[in-house]
Amino acid sequence: MIEDLTAEKLATENQTAEDVLTVENLETRFRRGDDTIYAVNSVSFSVAPGETLGIVGESGSGKSVSLLSILGLARGARSVSGTARFMGTDLLKLRRRQLEDIRGRDIGMIFQDPMTSLNPAMRIGDQIMEAMLTHHYTNRKGAFARTLELLDKVGIPEARARFRSYPHEFSGGMRQRAMIAMAIACEPQLLIADEATTAVDVTVQAQILDLLDDLRKGRRMSIILITHDFGVATNFCDRIVVLYAGKVMESARLAEFLACPAHPYTVGLRDSVIEVGQRGRKLTPIPGMAATLTEPIRGCPFAPRCSMAIDRCTQEVPQLRSLGPGHTVACHRAEEVMSRAS
Ligand SMILES: Nc1ncnc2c1ncn2[C@@H]1O[C@H](COP(=O)(O)OP(=O)(O)O)[C@@H](O)[C@H]1O
Ligand code: SF4
Ligand SMILES: [Mg+2]
Repeated sequence: MIEDLTAEKLATENQTAEDVLTVENLETRFRRGDDTIYAVNSVSFSVAPGETLGIVGESGSGKSVSLLSILGLARGARSVSGTARFMGTDLLKLRRRQLEDIRGRDIGMIFQDPMTSLNPAMRIGDQIMEAMLTHHYTNRKGAFARTLELLDKVGIPEARARFRSYPHEFSGGMRQRAMIAMAIACEPQLLIADEATTAVDVTVQAQILDLLDDLRKGRRMSIILITHDFGVATNFCDRIVVLYAGKVMESARLAEFLACPAHPYTVGLRDSVIEVGQRGRKLTPIPGMAATLTEPIRGCPFAPRCSMAIDRCTQEVPQLRSLGPGHTVACHRAEEVMSRAS
């Protein structure tokens, strides 16, 4: 049976009490001049222990802002609302100090540009140690020993010598590894990787994704992988949430995504992932412009680019609804899409 679901019902439908993070009805607004930017619009998702959740969508679809919002890092946001329960605590209700404690200790973060996390004027080893000392994870002696261990674990050779290097003495791939070492230093429950492999070549990308996967399996750490590259998400994630115009279009386990996508945008993403020899996959764009976010959403935000759009699509916002366990979609014509795509 297919039914319309409120965010709360959706959350219970797809999530268990044990989830590491449950985000419900997240909304973020910015102001740009006289305009309001509706960057994140009633987004809900969750991640279970040991699970890798992919958040995918084109540039500007609200992936980064969604995660930055729940971490209190959406700088300049006019408003952030909703709930984001991490291990039972609503992050959106915490004071700045309490959030700072959680960030870097319980939730690790890695970004596309390691230089946003690494201090160029500080030795790599000292920075990793500092991550532990700030959060009182261990004492200086323990932090030093663990830093060497971490450098080794993330595949940085000659850890003792590398401890004393500065970020500019590392290659891009090495900096990425150092950033991962820093992010996992305090053994976080959740690691958020935002386009973390976008700037590195395909070989290093595969190595870094493998490394994250090993860390996840070893400690049942959860990962949220934010990427505009659907190929990366399909190679690596257990479950995928597709964002468009700051809204969830579809959410499903990987197998369902590939076998029976139910949203035209997802079908487009799936079909535009082309095998490039044995080495990787490439995302080619879906025709049309990304949605502007300067007005509240009326109708389906994907309608201007959708080959299946009908009058109803421009008049009525498609609500997220369930198509089966763990599979939700926001499209008026999901059943037809599914039967055509599979
Ligand atoms: N500080 C800001 N001020 C105004 N608009 C912003 C700000 N940060 C992000 N946005 C807008 O929010 C939308 C979502 O951005 P973002 O989450 O960074 O997209 P992406 O999916 O590429 O990560 C974009 O339209 C972006 O221009
Ligand atoms: S609701 Fe309509 S416009 Fe939107 S994706 Fe579905 S068919 Fe296309
Ligand atoms: Mg981004």
